[in-house]
Amino acid sequence: MQLKEKIDRLLDEARKIKLASEEEAEKYRIRLLGKKGEMNALFEAFKTVEPELKKEIGQSLNQLKNAVQESLLKAKEGLEQSARNAEADAFDLTRPVEDEIGHRHPLSLVREEIYRIFGKIGFDISDGPEIEDDWHLFTALNFSPEHPARDMQDTFFVEKNGGVDDVALRTHTSSVQIRVMNSHKLPIRTLCPGRVYRNEAVSARAHCFFHQVEGLYVDKGVSYADMREVLLYFAKEMFGNDTRIRLRPSYFPFTEPSAEMDIACSICGGKGCALCKGTGWVEILGCGMVDPNVLRNCNINPEEYSGFAFGMGVERIANLLYRVNDLRLFSENDKRFLAQF
Ligand code: DAH
Repeated sequence: MQLKEKIDRLLDEARKIKLASEEEAEKYRIRLLGKKGEMNALFEAFKTVEPELKKEIGQSLNQLKNAVQESLLKAKEGLEQSARNAEADAFDLTRPVEDEIGHRHPLSLVREEIYRIFGKIGFDISDGPEIEDDWHLFTALNFSPEHPARDMQDTFFVEKNGGVDDVALRTHTSSVQIRVMNSHKLPIRTLCPGRVYRNEAVSARAHCFFHQVEGLYVDKGVSYADMREVLLYFAKEMFGNDTRIRLRPSYFPFTEPSAEMDIACSICGGKGCALCKGTGWVEILGCGMVDPNVLRNCNINPEEYSGFAFGMGVERIANLLYRVNDLRLFSENDKRFLAQF
């Protein structure tokens, strides 16, 4: 029965054995299944087993052979799996980047500075869609039917039927004013930031898309003087405490009166240089008192309420703050540019 005991011992071993490496597995295979291995020795010994024990011992031998093969197969699969895991570990998506930390985009920096400045005096932030209908973009804002912005040359239309069903990429964020006045309770003090689109050839000074921040303040008794003080406060916070402003009469369909605001040129201090084209002033935004027609279009009674609005280009402010002279740089994702902020 020595033979049976040996088989049982090896069977026990085959069922428990942990083969932790390819070498260990190979060694075990040779020891058990090799030419001069245990299995062959056992089969050799099997030849001399008495006939009445042959069946039992024969079955045990086959069991052993299967168990050995199974343990080798299991080891092989296990080793392959851990190789795959090791490979996956080496490619760790959560590992912190070592040599290249990201940079805030200059337009984000400027936009957030605008939020901060107006946030301090109670302005919140409102959002609206980039694809807009004619009503919010033009009609509710008091644009006349023949205004050039309604022309394909200036505006990217998504659907153009020549009426209130037109749909376009928004040309300004003033459209969000209308949405806010329609949906918010008065008083309103809000900023409407976002990307806008215009059908322009791309150059250093014009782009087919850029970013605006619109402001809107509607309450009882809001005056032009309030607007001027708010915009002066903004200019000082943004460009420095000794910044001077001037308001020039202008025209926008949605404000009456309308103005454009200049700041004294930050480069030459007002003496006149290339940036301000010798005038000493640079324009930074459009503004005005919300036209009574616009209030009426939003079911606000202009006898009771008044308001002011303004709209500025984020790129324009960034150009002045950072002395960038080519609009295209903001959307080219050139790391040499972005890494400077
Ligand atoms: N919507 C104007 C533009 O895109 C900017 C603007 C001017 C907005 C005057 C205003 C405003 O709210 O009062 O050029």
